[in-house]
Amino acid sequence: MKKVIIDVDTGIDDAMALSYAVHSPDLEICGVTTTFGNITVEEATRNTLQVLELIGAGEIPVYPGASKPLVRELKEKAKLFHGENGLGNVELPLPSAAPQVMRAAEFMIATIKEHPQKITLITVGSMTNLALAIMAAPEIVSLVERVVVMGGAVTVPGNRTPVAEANICADPEAASYVFQSGIPITLVGLDVTMQTLLTREHLQQWRESDTKISHFFADMCEVYMDAYAKVGNVLGCGLHDPLAVGVVIDPSFVTAYPMHVQVDTSGSASDARTIGDRREQPASAPNVDVCLEVDHERFVEHFLKYVM
Ligand code: BDR
Ligand code: CA
Repeated sequence: MKKVIIDVDTGIDDAMALSYAVHSPDLEICGVTTTFGNITVEEATRNTLQVLELIGAGEIPVYPGASKPLVRELKEKAKLFHGENGLGNVELPLPSAAPQVMRAAEFMIATIKEHPQKITLITVGSMTNLALAIMAAPEIVSLVERVVVMGGAVTVPGNRTPVAEANICADPEAASYVFQSGIPITLVGLDVTMQTLLTREHLQQWRESDTKISHFFADMCEVYMDAYAKVGNVLGCGLHDPLAVGVVIDPSFVTAYPMHVQVDTSGSASDARTIGDRREQPASAPNVDVCLEVDHERFVEHFLKYVM
């Protein structure tokens, strides 16, 4: 079993990623850390506790993290996609468990040091917690097994701006800092996640399986799919955060290419863009493995098998 920490801004697809990770026989979740992005960090922490309790995993500890970007102001919540509460406005009972007192970055550092070369960190929200952890303990760069980041759009358009993806947009300086830190990164961006779609037919199957969890996921995803249909005429919704979990379970779901990637922090129209050097003779050594192809049928089938 691979030991993982999952850093979330729970969010509809974050909730599905958590459930997929919890039910996968290949992963051991050491803890979940929270950040801002789709919603505030307080809401992300509450939603994470609620979702874990719903799926019977309330014993997994949840560590609250950063409430704002490293240097910028907090951006608007992603209400159109994730609803006012982050879970498509579907209400769950208030959590009975409380979040941990230890902060997210501290937990990341302590766990990575306790299990050298054994922890895979999966970030599916803003990259602020990881940036803070590396600033406080740079040695974790060589102690972590790998960081799998859901973020970026290297060869395709963005979703938050014409060129930038939402998780990188949430805190471009944090993403830039992490990318330059030397930590081993696999980037699961829109290049591949927009090829892994959940469809209305899948939601219908969930409704027919008629459990509390299947109805919750189907209701939540209706909102997500409506937003996709509205902004991009997409028939379904991207399984962004679940694919990052999938890549840890089975790296052969994707094909990744080593590349030098930098994050634009200019504040201009190209702000938060992930610029990959795809030239034959790049100017700098690769710092990121960028996923550009995905076996979407095999991944979606595996996701559907283990998400609940
Ligand atoms: C990413 O942004 C968030 O809205 C989603 O939860 C996902 O992590 C997709 O760009
Ligand atoms: Ca997310």
